[in-house]
Amino acid sequence: MAKNLLSIKDLSKDEILDLIKFSNNFIDDEGNFRKEDLFPDKTVANVFCEPSTRTKSSFAIAAGNLGCSVIDFNIDNSSVQKGESIFETVDALNLMGVDLCVLRHPESVIQELADALPKMVFINAGEGSISHPTQALLDMKTIMDHKNSLDGLKIVIVGDLDHSRVTSSFVEGISNFSFDSLTFSGHPEMCTNYQSPSIGNYEPDMEKALQDADVVMTLRIQHERFKEELNLDLETYKNAYQLSSEKLEHAKGDAIIMHPGPVNYVEITEAVYDSENSVIRQQIANGVAIRMAVLSRFLSG
Ligand code: CP
Repeated sequence: MAKNLLSIKDLSKDEILDLIKFSNNFIDDEGNFRKEDLFPDKTVANVFCEPSTRTKSSFAIAAGNLGCSVIDFNIDNSSVQKGESIFETVDALNLMGVDLCVLRHPESVIQELADALPKMVFINAGEGSISHPTQALLDMKTIMDHKNSLDGLKIVIVGDLDHSRVTSSFVEGISNFSFDSLTFSGHPEMCTNYQSPSIGNYEPDMEKALQDADVVMTLRIQHERFKEELNLDLETYKNAYQLSSEKLEHAKGDAIIMHPGPVNYVEITEAVYDSENSVIRQQIANGVAIRMAVLSRFLSG
């Protein structure tokens, strides 16, 4: 296994399957997370330079469950506010004995940090619009929980794909498996990078895209990443690209509905979020188990 998890491409197919299987060990029969004092001598720093609820909290819970000391680094109350760079910041944590840095950053800095600080382990918790490997792992675990396999599935991803690090890492991960189809859908101006994809196909008509789908992943519009807001009429957008109960009828009856969160209820109705098909809340819980597996493997070197 690689020293750092910077991209899902750092993992082989067998390593992906191993991490998913290993993560199941951290959930007991009642669905609670096991607390194991496996790494009492390790210190993990959670360094988030972009907002997060699920990823940051689940890494902190996962590290705590494994017996690690956890530094919940608050960038807004740190010396970054006095002009210190991210490199100086993480180097300072390294010098103070932090073993593993979980980093979310709007820019591609993690590779350079990992190269500069070889004694520290780095886990990517979100790199701009580029990648989010542990999200891809928890998404693949959630699919396996419901479909038993990552092979043979009709998968649809719909929404603001251009800004979605969730999509790019998921596509890299799922490309290790023999899916039946992988269909990208969404407003053409939010899917400019997916209209001639190297794998899968683009279908701008969401109802056609959903036909017989096994897995439907919905994504919010990431307004915070647009250089210029699109001139969108919200009701027209919802008519075309909001996953409603009516549109869901085009998918298979046992299709699972996914969303990495946070949900804005523009891309999905509350009724679909709350439906039996929705596994969105399970994705959140799976984040803890997957991150316990990732931290265990990468802290073990
Ligand atoms: N899915 C995800 O990354 O959520 P957060 O931004 O809340 O961490």
